[in-house]
Amino acid sequence: MPKAERPSIDAIEVRDLRREEIPQAVGVLARGMRDNPLHFAAYGVDPEQRVRSHALLVRGLFTTSPHQRPIVAVHEGRVVGVTGVAAPGSCQPSGLGKLRQLPALLTLGPRTAVRVAKWVSGWAALDPKETTHAHLGPLGVDAHLQGMGIGSLIMREYCRRLDTDGHHGYLETDKRENVAFYQRFGFTLIAESPIIGVPNWFMLRPPTS
Ligand SMILES: CC(C)(COP(=O)(O)OP(=O)(O)OC[C@H]1O[C@@H](n2cnc3c(N)ncnc32)[C@H](O)[C@@H]1OP(=O)(O)O)[C@@H](O)C(=O)NCCC(=O)NCCS
Repeated sequence: MPKAERPSIDAIEVRDLRREEIPQAVGVLARGMRDNPLHFAAYGVDPEQRVRSHALLVRGLFTTSPHQRPIVAVHEGRVVGVTGVAAPGSCQPSGLGKLRQLPALLTLGPRTAVRVAKWVSGWAALDPKETTHAHLGPLGVDAHLQGMGIGSLIMREYCRRLDTDGHHGYLETDKRENVAFYQRFGFTLIAESPIIGVPNWFMLRPPTS
C-alpha cells in the first residue's frame, strides 16, 4: 500500500464503538477475518460468501446483544479495527440472547447455520465458566491495514480496561500465529481443541495490578 495512504499510528483513536459506526465495524470484521480457517470451514470456499456470512453474524451480535461493549480503532473518522467485548458473565447467551441471534443465523442457510451452531457450541463447551471474564472477540483489523500496530493498540486498551476493572480476559483463536500475538499482552494458553475440524487455541489473562 502506498506510504501516503497508511494511517499514522499516532493519529488513531481507540475508544468505544458508537452505534452509527456499527455498519463500518461489521465491514472491517467481515473483510479482516475473511480468510480465517474457521470461516472457510463454516462459510465455505467462496470469499465473497465468507464476507457476507460473517457480516450477517457480526451485525446480529452488535445490534442485538445488550452486553457487548466493542472497542474500535478509528482513523480520520473511519473504523480501521474493532473487537467485540462481552461483559463478564454475559458471554454465553441466555435463551433470550440465542433467540435474538436466531434470525441472523437462519439467513445463512441451513447447512451453514448448522456449522456455525456447532462452532459456537464447541467454543461454549470450553468457556472457563469458573473464571468470570470479559470475553474478547471477534477481533479484526481491515485486511489492507494488518501488521501496522492497529491490533496492538486495541489490545492495549482492552487490557487496560481489564486491569482497571480487575477482570480476567479470555479468547479463542483459530490461527496459531495469533497465539504469540496474544501472549505479548499477558495471555496464556489454557486449552487446544479442534472446532468443526479446525485447530483452535484458548487463552486466559489474569488482571495485573
Ligand atoms: C490478528 C490481528 C487482529 C492483529 O492486528 P494487527 O494490527 O495486524 O497486528 P499488529 O500490527 O498490532 O501486530 C503484529 C503482530 O500480529 C500478529 N499477526 C497475526 N496476524 C497477522 C497479520 N495478518 N498480519 C500481520 N500481523 C499479524 C503477528 O504476531 C504480528 O507480529 P510480528 O509483527 O512480530 O510478526 C490482525 O492481523 C487481523 O485482523 N488478522 C486477521 C483476523 C484474525 O485473525 N483475528 C483474530 C482472531 S482471534
